[in-house]
Amino acid sequence: MASIEVKNLKKKFGEVKVIEDFSLTVKDREFISLLGPSGCGKSTILRIVAGLEELTSGNILIGGKVVTPLEPKDRDIAMVFQNYALYPHKTIFENLAYGLRIRKKSETEITARVKEVASLLQIEQLLERRPAQLSGGQQQRVAMGRAIMREPQAFLFDEPLSNLDAKLRNHMRVEIRQLQQRLGITTLYVTHDQVEAMTMSDRIVVLNQGDIEQIGRPLEIYEKPASLFVANFIGSPAMNLIKVKTDAGNVVLPSGSPVAAGRTLPSGEITLGIRPERIKLSGNKGAQSLPYRITLVEELGSQKIVHGNIEGTDLTVVFPEDTALPGEAAFVDLPLNYLHFFDARSGKRL
Ligand SMILES: Nc1ncnc2c1ncn2[C@@H]1O[C@H](COP(=O)(O)OP(=O)(O)OP(=O)(O)O)[C@@H](O)[C@H]1O
Ligand SMILES: [Mg+2]
Repeated sequence: MASIEVKNLKKKFGEVKVIEDFSLTVKDREFISLLGPSGCGKSTILRIVAGLEELTSGNILIGGKVVTPLEPKDRDIAMVFQNYALYPHKTIFENLAYGLRIRKKSETEITARVKEVASLLQIEQLLERRPAQLSGGQQQRVAMGRAIMREPQAFLFDEPLSNLDAKLRNHMRVEIRQLQQRLGITTLYVTHDQVEAMTMSDRIVVLNQGDIEQIGRPLEIYEKPASLFVANFIGSPAMNLIKVKTDAGNVVLPSGSPVAAGRTLPSGEITLGIRPERIKLSGNKGAQSLPYRITLVEELGSQKIVHGNIEGTDLTVVFPEDTALPGEAAFVDLPLNYLHFFDARSGKRL
C-alpha cells in the first residue's frame, strides 16, 4: 500500500499565507492532478510532499507512514521536474545509474537495472550520449527513467511536459500514463494545463489560491463544475458565461429574450453557463431558437469555432467541420439539460 496523505497542510512564506488548510488522499495506484492557475500553490504542495520545502503545520503520510520529519531521500518518492535536471557532464547511463551508485549498489545490479529501465522507455541506443545530445522528448524520457530506477512508492511530477512542443506533449502524456498504470505507482501530478489533467488523471483537484474548488473524476468536473472558477478553467473553448436575471421558470438574457431554465431558480441575478460544443446552431428556427449573428469563424480542421452573438450577447459555438454553416439567418438552441447556473455572488453552482 502506498497512498499519499496530506493532512491539514498550512504554509506561510514569512507573513504570506499560501496554503490555508489543505487535505488530500491519493489512493494506492491512483493518478491525481493538481490543476490551477499560476501562483495558486501547486508546486508548493508538491515540494512539501517531497520534503523539499518545510510546512508551517500539518502532516504528510506516504504508505501510511508519517514522513513529515524525514529528508527527501528517506521518503521513497521520485520527482520529475519541468527542467529535467539531468547531470550535463554525465552520460545517460550514468544519469540513470546515479541514484543506485550513491546507495552503493553493485556494478552488476546497476547495469542490469539501467538496461531494464532503458528498454522499458526505449532509450537503449542513447545510453552513451550526454543530455545535450538528446531531443527534449528523449531528455524527458531519461528524467522519467531516473525516477523509476529505484521503484519508488510514489511519483511526484511538476509540469514535466511544459518544455515540449504540442505534438510531443500529447505523445508523452500517453506514455507517462501508460507507464504509471503498468507500474502501478501512486502519482501526484502538477499542471496548469486542463487537457493534461483531463486526459491523464483518475481524479483532478482544482486549486484556487491554495484552496480546493473541486475534487472529482475528469468528466464529473467537466459536466458538473462546482463553481464559476472551475467552469471557466475546464474546457476549450471556454464555457459561455452570461449574466442573466431570473423570472419564474425562465432566465432573461441582457436583450430581454427569455430562455427556458427548466427549473426554479432563486430570483435576481445569476450566471448562465453553456459549453460551446453543446449549443445547436442551424438555419432552422425552432420554438426555443434565438437568432444568432456570426462574426468570425475559426477553422481547426476537425471542427469550426464560431464566434457571434445573440442580440448583442457574445456566444461561442463549436460546429462540426463536415457540415455547412448557416448563412445570414442563423439560429441557436440552448438545450435544457446542458445549462449550468451559478450564484452571481459566491460563484457556487446552483
Ligand atoms: N520561497 C518563496 N517565498 C515567498 N513566496 C513564495 C515562495 N515560493 C512560492 N511563493 C509564493 O507562493 C505562491 C504559490 O507558489 P507556487 O510556486 O506553489 O505556485 P504554482 O501554483 O506552482 O504556480 P506556477 O503554475 O506558476 O508554477 C505564489 O504566490 C508564490 O509567489
Ligand atoms: Mg509551479
